[in-house]
Amino acid sequence: MLTPAEAATLVFPAVNQAALDYLKAACSRGERVVCAASVANDEVAAAAGELHRLPAIHDADFATRFFALADAQSIVRVLCPVSTVHAFMTRFLAQRRPDLQLIGESPVQQQIAAHRALMARAQRLMPLVELCAGGFPALSLREAAGVLRQASLIYGESNDDKLAAMMGIFARAPQGDVVEIGSLMGRSAFVLLYLAWRHRIGALLTVDPWTAAECAQHDSPAALQHVTDEWDYEVLSEGFMLNLVPCRADDHAHLRLPSEAGFAAYARGEPIRSPFGRPVAYSGTIAVIHIDGNHDHAAVNQDCGLWLTRLAPGGWLILDDYVWAHGDGPQRVGDALLRDQAEGIECAFCCGKALFVKLRH
Ligand SMILES: C[S@@+](CC[C@H](N)C(=O)[O-])C[C@H]1O[C@@H](n2cnc3c(N)ncnc32)[C@H](O)[C@@H]1O
Repeated sequence: MLTPAEAATLVFPAVNQAALDYLKAACSRGERVVCAASVANDEVAAAAGELHRLPAIHDADFATRFFALADAQSIVRVLCPVSTVHAFMTRFLAQRRPDLQLIGESPVQQQIAAHRALMARAQRLMPLVELCAGGFPALSLREAAGVLRQASLIYGESNDDKLAAMMGIFARAPQGDVVEIGSLMGRSAFVLLYLAWRHRIGALLTVDPWTAAECAQHDSPAALQHVTDEWDYEVLSEGFMLNLVPCRADDHAHLRLPSEAGFAAYARGEPIRSPFGRPVAYSGTIAVIHIDGNHDHAAVNQDCGLWLTRLAPGGWLILDDYVWAHGDGPQRVGDALLRDQAEGIECAFCCGKALFVKLRH
């Protein structure tokens, strides 16, 4: 009887990222992994320490060599990260060695399951998208699912419900500039850029200084005030730019400035250069603004005090973290706005922790 430490998992054919991912995760939980392939792979060999060579599955000596390796290495499980080989291995092991457990779904079956889960996720959000669109033509299920999928590939702090509400409100936004204060690595900026293009609203301006000093949350509990000090802000900045590369980039510019300096640059009314060096013209009137920068009360108050002076009639404010566990800056500013400017507000609601406010026309 093998002990858990002796029993090993064979990854075959260990030739791709899925093999490397399994190897890394298995090693971190103390599982012994043996990698094998029919072709050389220096990356896997380096990560695994050794890459055993086996014949191709259709070669006459495959079964003999495969079982010899399995027995010599105390293999009890087999992970097969290539769909065609997985299909072969399902029958092969069932007929010849049912004691070897084939673990994990076939990669193509994993993709099919992931696609179905994504469509179910988007389907759940569609009533919210349509509700927020208020009877105007909204995104289709496929579009919403596509936006969700791409947004999910980008690290960020906007959840599904907030993104769905964003998808909806653009259907009834006026024309003008789309602005985001606080972009991190671009999850919400990607969604805003897509929606601005899809509904022909206007160009996107993102503003984020990516510095530890600006990120510090002085109003939050002491343990949380400086958790962001250790972040590598050059990586966040480069990651943001990379994440937006596949999007239409002619109608987006970024200001690597704090919100206040960003507003001064925007208010000059001159074109701002896109990441590709092309001038992006802004109308000076904002159709949709997403305020998601520093959440200290003074910072949110300043963001709203500056930028909302440019919000168009019928325009939308999205004030992030109106409901927030680590402070009440956005909530206090949002509540003051709802109270003091009630007559100018057409509608307001809270969704995905953000406050959505639409001005009257
Ligand atoms: C909560 S994250 C933004 C998350 C992003 N909107 C998303 O959905 O993934 C906050 C961001 O605000 C930025 N920030 C902090 N202070 C700022 C300021 N004064 N002006 C603009 N951005 C600021 C930070 O650098 C950080 O990237």
